[in-house]
Amino acid sequence: MTTSFTIAIDGPAAAGKGTISKAVAKHFGFAHLDTGLLYRAVGAKVLVGEKPVEAAQDLTAEDLQADGLRTAEVAQAASKVAVIGEVRQALVDFQRSFARRAGGAVLDGRDIGTVICPDADAKLFVTASPEVRAERRYKELREAGSDSDFETVLADVKARDERDMNRAEAPLKPAVDAVVIDTSDLSIEAAVAAAIVAIKEKQS
Ligand code: CDP
Repeated sequence: MTTSFTIAIDGPAAAGKGTISKAVAKHFGFAHLDTGLLYRAVGAKVLVGEKPVEAAQDLTAEDLQADGLRTAEVAQAASKVAVIGEVRQALVDFQRSFARRAGGAVLDGRDIGTVICPDADAKLFVTASPEVRAERRYKELREAGSDSDFETVLADVKARDERDMNRAEAPLKPAVDAVVIDTSDLSIEAAVAAAIVAIKEKQS
């Protein structure tokens, strides 16, 4: 029988969650869900005139494949819809059933270890200084063809941190039992290695 093993990876924007989550999922052979994409897909629908709660309730798998979900504009729209309790509620069941899938799952987001999967087998909180995170996001956006400038990206990251950490519903914070990994001075390889070590400790 295949059992489930849930890994929750939370943290602020551009801390390295996505990269670490993908590498960890590959290492353990688990499925990966980037839960930020759910909020980005809802945010994108709101930008074209849909109502946030309805957009969340009607979300489909195709919506997660839409073009442009990685833009800075959609990121801000995502963090605005993410403060709405009914939007978050509409996305809970999908995330929880993904977490329980046989063979293991990695979910990354803001509230996985605190709200979505408080009983996750392993919890990581991946963070870095706002400047380092903005530098990484700036490079990603430039490589994707955006002409954004560093100061704007830094301001966007800080605005999103502020909104994500101070909202009433599922605010961004480390779960009490999360292992915190600060990637400010770590290479990708070192950050992934630290994550794998922390997870292996929970497996035994
Ligand atoms: O990739 P990045 O870290 O910049 O952002 P993301 O993970 O794609 O998330 C976009 C926005 O969705 C965040 O700023 C949060 O406001 C929201 N979000 C959330 O509230 N809860 C989650 N589990 C995931 C994302």
